[in-house]
Amino acid sequence: MLIKAPSDIAPSEITPRSVYLSRRGLLAGAGALAGALAFGPADAATLTAAKSPFSTDEKPTPKKDVVSYNNFYEFGTDKADPVAYAGKLTTSPWSVKVDGLVGKPADYALEDILKGVALEERIYRMRCVEGWSMVIPWVGFPLAELLKKVEPQGSAKYVAFETLKRPSEMPGQKGVFQALPWPYVEGLRLDEAMNPLTILAVGLYGETLPNQNGAPIRLVVPWKYGFKSIKSVVRISLVEKQPETTWQKQNPGEYGFYSNVNPEVDHPRWSQKTERRIGEGSGLFAARRPTLMFNGYAEQVASLYSGLDLRKNY
Ligand code: MTE
Repeated sequence: MLIKAPSDIAPSEITPRSVYLSRRGLLAGAGALAGALAFGPADAATLTAAKSPFSTDEKPTPKKDVVSYNNFYEFGTDKADPVAYAGKLTTSPWSVKVDGLVGKPADYALEDILKGVALEERIYRMRCVEGWSMVIPWVGFPLAELLKKVEPQGSAKYVAFETLKRPSEMPGQKGVFQALPWPYVEGLRLDEAMNPLTILAVGLYGETLPNQNGAPIRLVVPWKYGFKSIKSVVRISLVEKQPETTWQKQNPGEYGFYSNVNPEVDHPRWSQKTERRIGEGSGLFAARRPTLMFNGYAEQVASLYSGLDLRKNY
């Protein structure tokens, strides 16, 4: 078993640097972030967060790899483009529009979204559709907490997400060659969005998110391919019909709505049976490891898909 139940966790396993189990510590976490947001993107601020029992005990990928090997097409299609060009993105002030089938639609300032929220450290395996993986110590909170506050209506069946569109600060959104249609959009079924593994992340490695990783707030869905984990979110809409997603629009033959990590369903152009863990070994000779069903989170999420043919609903 890869995920521990709360009772299995010894106090000695709690990360000393960033973790305090006291209520005071948790509140300080959200407070620290509110303070950090006032300073702007260049100043990574320390966040206080309790380690979540949903964390894997696998070794985190070195931070230098997590923050320099990225997909964020708004800044270019090369893995090195986001760290090179995302620094100029203005992430403060930031607000998220919550609309659609909710009782409390509004433009919520990020500070207000985080008020009273207890930040958690969630060490998750992440698996990219391209065949590489990382273990990332995110700092965030369950998306369900935000959704409950905005009061979804009975007719809401899906949650649609949208990234910022700001060509003046996002070079990948300018010029003749546009890699994707903008804004980048993604979606989840409401029960996937409410699952306790689904978080909104505001930090990693105990600090506020670097811009290239989706500052100041991004989705993290660890049992789905990385592209579902949409960055720099500016809009969350509760809707009745299955929303369009960027990669499905771009190439419907290769990318489906569900995008669950499934080693049994090959990408049309390559196998998904194995993956290369970034930071381990190097280049073509790095050992590949088997990819696990639902990226190893089957115990938590397989029941969401009972009755669904996962070969058709990829
Ligand atoms: N979100 C936006 N807005 N734009 C993107 O290009 N790329 C996705 C996802 N979220 C992407 C995005 C892909 S393909 C991956 S693998 C992950 O972000 C990578 O997240 P990371 O760079 O923080 O590891």
